[in-house]
Amino acid sequence: MKRIGLLTSGGDCPGLNACIRAVVRTASYYGLETVGFIRGFKGLVDNDFKILDYKSVAGILQRGGTVLLTAREPRFKDYQYRKKAYENIKKLGIDALFVIGGNGSFQGAYLLQKEFGLNVIGIPKTIDNDIFGTEYSIGFDTAVNNAMEAIDKIKDTTMSHERVFIVEVMGRDSGFIALEVGLATGAEITLIPEYPLPLHIVEEKILKAKSMGKGFAIIVVAEGVASAKELAEILTERLKDKDIGEIRYQVLGYIQRGGSPTAYDRIMASKFGVFAVEKYVAGEKNFMVAFENGSVVSKPLEVSFGKIRVPNIKKYEINNILSL
Ligand code: F6P
Repeated sequence: MKRIGLLTSGGDCPGLNACIRAVVRTASYYGLETVGFIRGFKGLVDNDFKILDYKSVAGILQRGGTVLLTAREPRFKDYQYRKKAYENIKKLGIDALFVIGGNGSFQGAYLLQKEFGLNVIGIPKTIDNDIFGTEYSIGFDTAVNNAMEAIDKIKDTTMSHERVFIVEVMGRDSGFIALEVGLATGAEITLIPEYPLPLHIVEEKILKAKSMGKGFAIIVVAEGVASAKELAEILTERLKDKDIGEIRYQVLGYIQRGGSPTAYDRIMASKFGVFAVEKYVAGEKNFMVAFENGSVVSKPLEVSFGKIRVPNIKKYEINNILSL
């Protein structure tokens, strides 16, 4: 029986299990056996794996995190460990390696392709949704919904106490989560790294909200712009004579990355997984799964390297029109 390898790598996100299930079950459907490596590339190097069959992925679709565990593996930067990983893969008779990961994981996999001729297939996941070459990465929708639900709750207090409230969301260097969450929660101000807003404009917007008789304002700030704490301190100082009351802040952190995936993430993860295996069965090699203009497509893995995906300016403008 032909074998494929599968791993999850980098930060966890909701939808990974749905994708694992989809890859394993599609493989099984086409008569392939799946070898699941534990803790991402670490499992490849240490030859830590388990055979995944149809039944072993039952009941995981709705669960957050990853049943294969995940890690960041610094040893993979070193050729001798990549060689060890490849030797393990060969010994196990694995014909192709499926990597559910982000940019860094794709680059690690690409080295196995370049150096040893291994067939590698990337499936994009990250709550940040910033992988170049795909309009969607597994986990984003759930992260946005998690953040939205948290901010809806915070908004009750913000409105009742007529406060200015700063909420920091994840995204590393990108503003996709903040932009989407800003729109979904009707934030008065959304700050993202891709479209910097000078501090004096932020101040003007807060004062405008007050002058319009709106007693409160929610500021959604992407972690790549500033920390909420720092921003709250700066704005409190700059606006101390303006009678805007106390500025409070909240860092949402890891609650964005956990929990049960939304229907959208479950479906996208399933589609990505099925598509990846079907393309492999059809003979395609060395590609990443991508979402483009409403369709799931395949692209060379290298498409995602060295480029930065930026949010659509139109969405940012909509946010501006609807906020203040
Ligand atoms: O890339 C996903 C992400 O959650 C980012 O939004 C965040 O900056 C980072 O990972 C946090 O990484 P770690 O798991 O190492 O704390």
